[in-house]
Amino acid sequence: MATKRICDLGPVEKRMVITLDGPAGSGKSTIAGRLAKELGFVHADSGAMYRTLTLACMRVLGPGQTADDFGRDIREAGIDPAGLDCHARIENGAQVNLIGKDDVGSEIRTPLVTARIRYIADSRAFREAVNTMLRDFATTTDLVVDGRDIGTVVFPEAGLKFYLDASSETRAARRLREFRLRDPSFEGSLDRIQADIERRDREDRDRPFGALQRPADSILIDTSTLDPDGVLNRLLGHLQIHF
Ligand code: C5P
Repeated sequence: MATKRICDLGPVEKRMVITLDGPAGSGKSTIAGRLAKELGFVHADSGAMYRTLTLACMRVLGPGQTADDFGRDIREAGIDPAGLDCHARIENGAQVNLIGKDDVGSEIRTPLVTARIRYIADSRAFREAVNTMLRDFATTTDLVVDGRDIGTVVFPEAGLKFYLDASSETRAARRLREFRLRDPSFEGSLDRIQADIERRDREDRDRPFGALQRPADSILIDTSTLDPDGVLNRLLGHLQIHF
């Protein structure tokens, strides 16, 4: 069983954390999910936690706001993340994202949420709330965690760190394929998606705390010319586990 062989990488009795950081569209989430499944670990999706907090704030502030209004109101309202009733739970080996009792797994993936998330991700209080949820997870189970600051800020002591990267053009092409798979009538252009990805890269890299950066002790995987199986094989190669 693959999970046993990983003990080479750290003390058996300690929970194992593998971190996967990288920019939007680098394939982190897909790969983190597959790697976790392969190893019998849980995939912790930090982006989903930021998305859930963003959606909860949108519900508090009311409908109809532009993203700019949302940003202004978030700063002025001084919302305490602890009061939002947002939770992430592990159920049957998978992360479930809740606002109260409401499972918001699909609603958090809408463009409305994506357009507002940076105001939440820029806030130290919200970042600390996410970091606490992730560290709580790590007290109960072995984790593969994906995000932007996981190997640098959240789990600097993690046993193994990866940084996934690809050119913005490749990442945009992947996103376009995903959008078209979900909605065959999708008409967005590659240029527009690429510009959007590059804007998100800037926002993620320029954040005052929790900025996207490659952990100095991480293994860099350029996913530009690899399909998901190829990336997974590279990672497993580093884990000395073979299909
Ligand atoms: O990974 P995903 O695209 O779902 O993340 C949504 C957003 O949450 C990202 O664009 C990023 O701004 C933010 N995020 C973050 N730190 C993390 C994970 C996500 O700031 N660890």
